[in-house]
Amino acid sequence: MTEKHTTQTNLLYLEDAYLQQTTANIVEVILDNKVRPDGSHSASLILDQTLFYPQGGGQPADQGTVEGPNGTFEVTHVSYNGGSVLHKGTLRGNLKAGDTVTLNLDWNRRYQHMQWHTLGHIVDQAVKNTVKDATSIDGNHGIGKKLSITFTTKISADQKQQIQQEVEKIIAQNVSTTTEMVTKDEMIKRGVKLPFDLPSNKPLRLLQIGKFPPMPDGGTHLRQTNEAWPVQVSDIQQDGENSLVYYTVENPESTKKSKGNKVSVADGQKAPLFISLTALRRQSTDIRAELSLDQSPVEELTTKYLGKKGKFNELAKEIRNVSPEDRKEAGQILNELKTALEQHIQKLKDSQNTTVPWTDLTAPGQPPKLGHMHPVSQAMEEVTRIFERIGFTRVRYPEVDWDHYVFEALNMPPDHPARDEWETFFIEAPIDQKFGKVVLTTHTSNGQVREMERLNSTPPIRMINIARCYRRQQDATHTQMFHQFEGLVVDKGITIQHLKGTLDYFAQEFYGPGTKSRIRPFHFQFTEPSFEVDFSCHICHGTGEVEQKDGKGEVQKTKCKFCKSGWHEVGGAGMVHPNVLKAGGIDPEEYTGFAFGWGVERTYTLKPGLNIDDIRLFYSGEMRFLEQF
Ligand code: PHE
Repeated sequence: MTEKHTTQTNLLYLEDAYLQQTTANIVEVILDNKVRPDGSHSASLILDQTLFYPQGGGQPADQGTVEGPNGTFEVTHVSYNGGSVLHKGTLRGNLKAGDTVTLNLDWNRRYQHMQWHTLGHIVDQAVKNTVKDATSIDGNHGIGKKLSITFTTKISADQKQQIQQEVEKIIAQNVSTTTEMVTKDEMIKRGVKLPFDLPSNKPLRLLQIGKFPPMPDGGTHLRQTNEAWPVQVSDIQQDGENSLVYYTVENPESTKKSKGNKVSVADGQKAPLFISLTALRRQSTDIRAELSLDQSPVEELTTKYLGKKGKFNELAKEIRNVSPEDRKEAGQILNELKTALEQHIQKLKDSQNTTVPWTDLTAPGQPPKLGHMHPVSQAMEEVTRIFERIGFTRVRYPEVDWDHYVFEALNMPPDHPARDEWETFFIEAPIDQKFGKVVLTTHTSNGQVREMERLNSTPPIRMINIARCYRRQQDATHTQMFHQFEGLVVDKGITIQHLKGTLDYFAQEFYGPGTKSRIRPFHFQFTEPSFEVDFSCHICHGTGEVEQKDGKGEVQKTKCKFCKSGWHEVGGAGMVHPNVLKAGGIDPEEYTGFAFGWGVERTYTLKPGLNIDDIRLFYSGEMRFLEQF
């Protein structure tokens, strides 16, 4: 037991990537305030140590379960949060700080990631052995749809064969992977190539495959290449200055039985990595329901459902993807299914003698697959409802609009330097004498003057405009297409106090009671004065510190990991500039107004309990991510 209380999670997978089960102590349980109909909670856990890999370095997050004395937690996503690992998922029963829990890793899923990751390094090395001075900058080992390595060097598609041979050569040498913990200074001293800047205040992991140059890497890897599954350099493509080398990895277990019919497990959608008992039960019910509705002749039904290649056998194959401890129960599910199918077909045969068509009214119905709205659409609905309650009207304006509405009417004449802040996409279209060029809207502020015009320049105006926006930037916190919402209020006697009151109202409604807003001076061309808007952090309530009891029951203060400063910056606001009112035909002597606007995705990711670290996931089409909301 250490004396000092700390939330830094000890990362066990760094030492031993093959560890599948261990115990740990809960440091903190963060409950989402929503309880699901079945009584479960969506929650986040912080542990003193973990074997679950948090998503990063191109490797997806692990999954599995955490079992405590009075409850279990199903881990659906794991992320790294300023020194601590955050396990996100579903809590059934009760878990609390201080509980000793057992961590069970979903090993099939992890082992597949280890294959993808290690083989990625080998493909990388094979390219470097083949193409002189090749430099790689990024790797995708399972987060996107395809596995790939990005090189800043030109790699020609003609070299595919050669690279493949090199990959096989490396694997055949049966090299081992070794890791050690060293400081950044030590890495530099040893001449290690650092692909990006690394922190110098803590030991870092250095990975070495065989005798190849070592590199910093925090992922999980195979011990020896003799464990490697068959790998294929599948494609080489150019992406601007970069070259992408794609590879596929086959799980020999899942290809063996499908007789030469290759299943590429690099595509998570096609070949599930594992199957839970719930999924098995659901599929079993589906098959029973399908049979009960099937009108085919009885002889056909027998082959279709119970034949060698029938639906039952197809599902039974999945048993090898069930985790070992669940196999027994999976066996029972399959036995019950088989009996049910046999009985149903037998009854059909019996009833045929009487020639009266027979329907089994006791058969289970076919459960419709339930979907739900995309999380971003859910957020937009919620924002709309919140503002409608205080008299705002939701409007929609074009997302391909004239320069006039996006910039010029907002006090940004052509060539004004402030325009550079908006990384604009231009549309190839004739330039209009009055309205200028056609652009993709860079913000929802284009709605301001449009709304003034729609109301014939006659306040009161209380508008909420939610729309897609586009900017030329893409990284973990930006996508080229995103959503904003914009509020505009114009009337007689509108002041900053109205703005502040509206922001406070929104903060409480969207993030929960007690959330406060804060405005700081800033600059926008279309508002004067202008502000940046912050909301207080729901974890530390704006203090930047959280109190926790240490091992001895004494209260300790630590820095809040979610905000660092107590506040989250969300967007901009201000009092509508007189020139904007004039552009909308409104007399600034008579009327004043305020406006605010910011990103829907960003606002949503800050909701209590969500903590989404990469907003690109929203648009990845990754069902395992989207299904959680
Ligand atoms: N349109 C601004 C942006 O995209 C935000 C803003 C809206 C600022 C309304 C002030 C008033 O950054």
